Amino acid sequence: MSHSYDIAVIAGDGVGPEVMREGLRVLDATAGRFGFSVNLTEYPYGTEHWLATEEIFPESATLEIIDQDAILLGAIGDPRAPVGLIERGIIGHLRWDLDLFVNLRPIKLYHERFCPLKDKTPADIDMIVVRENTEDVYVQQPVFENKGTPEEVASQPMRYTRAGTERIIHYAFDVAMTRPRKELLLIDKANAVRAQDLYTRTFAEVAQEYPEVKTDHAYIDAACMWMIKNPEWFDVAVTTNLFGDILTDVGAMIQGGMGLAASANIHPGKLGLFEPIHGSFPKATGQNTANPLATISAVAMMFEYLGEREASVAVDGAIANLLESGAVTSLKAGAYGTDELGDMILAQLEE
Ligand code: IPM
Ligand code: MG
Repeated sequence: MSHSYDIAVIAGDGVGPEVMREGLRVLDATAGRFGFSVNLTEYPYGTEHWLATEEIFPESATLEIIDQDAILLGAIGDPRAPVGLIERGIIGHLRWDLDLFVNLRPIKLYHERFCPLKDKTPADIDMIVVRENTEDVYVQQPVFENKGTPEEVASQPMRYTRAGTERIIHYAFDVAMTRPRKELLLIDKANAVRAQDLYTRTFAEVAQEYPEVKTDHAYIDAACMWMIKNPEWFDVAVTTNLFGDILTDVGAMIQGGMGLAASANIHPGKLGLFEPIHGSFPKATGQNTANPLATISAVAMMFEYLGEREASVAVDGAIANLLESGAVTSLKAGAYGTDELGDMILAQLEE
C-alpha cells in the first residue's frame, strides 16, 4: 500500500449515519482496489450526542481533526435542538474555524430522466458553483434590540473583506481555467446590496490576470431564473456564502434532487470537509430510504482532493454508469433502499 489517509467521519443526525454507512462501503472498496488505505476515526457529534452530554464539538476533537487528511460529514440538524445550534456548532465551526473558504458545488445531470426541466439533456447541465464559505451574514452575530416589544429591531450584517473576496474569486478563476469553456459568471446583488460592490471591483481586477477566461455577471434573482430557464448558459459561477447556499439548492433540483448533490469545503493546502448538501431529513431516520448517492459523490470529491484521481474517476464513473444504465429510474427518497443503492454502486465498481 503506497498511501494511508486519516479520515475523520462525522455521520451526524437523522439519515446521516445511513448515508455515511454506504459512503464508507464505497470508500473501503475503492481504497482496496486503487492501492491505498484509510484509517477512519468516527466522531459522535450531532444532536443525539448534544442531548446526552450538552457537548457540541469539543476543542480536543478540533485539534485532533486538524491533523487528519480529510473530514467526511453525513448530515446535521434535528428539531429537538434549538434552530441552528448544532448546524452552526458543527458545520459552521469546521468551515469557519478551519478557514475552509471554498465551497465547491458541482451540478451535473447524468441522464435526462432525472431532470425536471423540459427538453434539457446532460449536455445542458454541467456547471460548478464556487460558493464563498467563511464570510457574509453567516458569520455575523445577530443583534436583537428591544426584543419582544413592538419596537424590536433585528439585524445581522452582510460583511465582506477584500482578502476574503479576492481569494474566492481567484479560486473560481482557477476552476474556470480547468474547464473547456473557461467561463466564469459572477453572481451577486450589488444593485441592492451596495456592499457587494467589493465583489464587482475585485472581480474586474482579478479578471485581468486571466485573459483566457470569458467573464459575465448576473444578479442572484436573475441567476435563479436562468438556472431553470437556460442552465446551459452556466459553466463556472462564483458567489457569496448566502447566495451560494440558495442557488445550489436550485442546482440540486435540476440535476435530479438532493439525493445526488455533493460538496467540498476546502482551502488549498489544508484538509477538506466533504459532505452531501442535503440535510438530515429527520422524518426518514432509520428507514433505509435516504439516497446515499450524494454522500458517495462526496467521497469521490474527497479522493480527487487527496490526489487519488483514479479512485475519484472510478466512483464518479460508477454513479454515471448506474444512472445512465436505466437500472435506477428515480432518485427520490424511498425509491430504493439506501443499502440497495450502495450495493448497485459497489456492483458498478466491480465491472
Ligand atoms: C448547506 C446547508 C448549511 C448552510 C446549513 C446546514 C447551515 O444548508 O451546506 O448548504 O446553510 O450552509
Ligand atoms: Mg444549503
